[in-house]
Amino acid sequence: MRGKFITLEGIDGAGKSTHLEGIRRRLEADGRRVVMTREPGGTLLGEKLRTLLLAEPMHLETETLLMFAARREHLDKLILPALEEGAWVVSDRFTDATYAYQGGGRGLDLARIETLERWVQGDVQPDLTLVFDIPTDVALQRLSGTGNAPDRFEQETAQFFERVRSAYLARAGRFPHRIRLIDARPSIPEIQKSVEEAISSI
Ligand code: ADP
Ligand code: TYD
Repeated sequence: MRGKFITLEGIDGAGKSTHLEGIRRRLEADGRRVVMTREPGGTLLGEKLRTLLLAEPMHLETETLLMFAARREHLDKLILPALEEGAWVVSDRFTDATYAYQGGGRGLDLARIETLERWVQGDVQPDLTLVFDIPTDVALQRLSGTGNAPDRFEQETAQFFERVRSAYLARAGRFPHRIRLIDARPSIPEIQKSVEEAISSI
């Protein structure tokens, strides 16, 4: 039987990476074979593109095209074969991030993203997307507490992240059958409970 495709989204610092390991454990405890991956990235070439995307200044359309180039490889080499083999694939970000960051954050015409989405994905969509939602100031505070050097996206302004957050909320409103909002403000164990609840619904 074909596996399920789960994606995690949210503004930087929302706390989604914190829950990846718990999700894996939960699915494995249910007897699933699990493939954990991320975007941009997930393949050898995709990880090289990620390094460029997170560091090099570039035209907005170049940025968007490279996100989808990495995604094309990701679908072909990892996501689709794993789903076919019955594995459950959990990706830290996918196409909703392009709508939120390049569309909402940077103002790219959404019709351009829709065209690339159709081209690269056909009708492939996640079975479940968890959007970790949190006020921008709390996320930025969490990020500054990590002590890690901020990448090109993490250096953006609070206003940029407000637009990204609004774009995620708009998508959650538009695709309620697929996207579940997770309140990312409470403690890690409380959030873990909401995450497990959402996952057990598919
Ligand atoms: P993301 O992957 O969404 O960018 P992370 O999972 O890396 O975010 O979390 C960013 C920082 O916030 C980390 O230092 C993490 O330990 C911390 N953090 C995550 N979840 C919570 C939470 N519920 N409450 C407080 N701090 C958190
Ligand atoms: P992420 O893996 O969440 O970074 P980290 O684990 O360091 O928090 O994502 C890397 C960045 O890439 C993130 O800031 C969002 C951005 N991004 C886009 O702008 N568009 C996209 O389509 C994707 C997949 C990611």
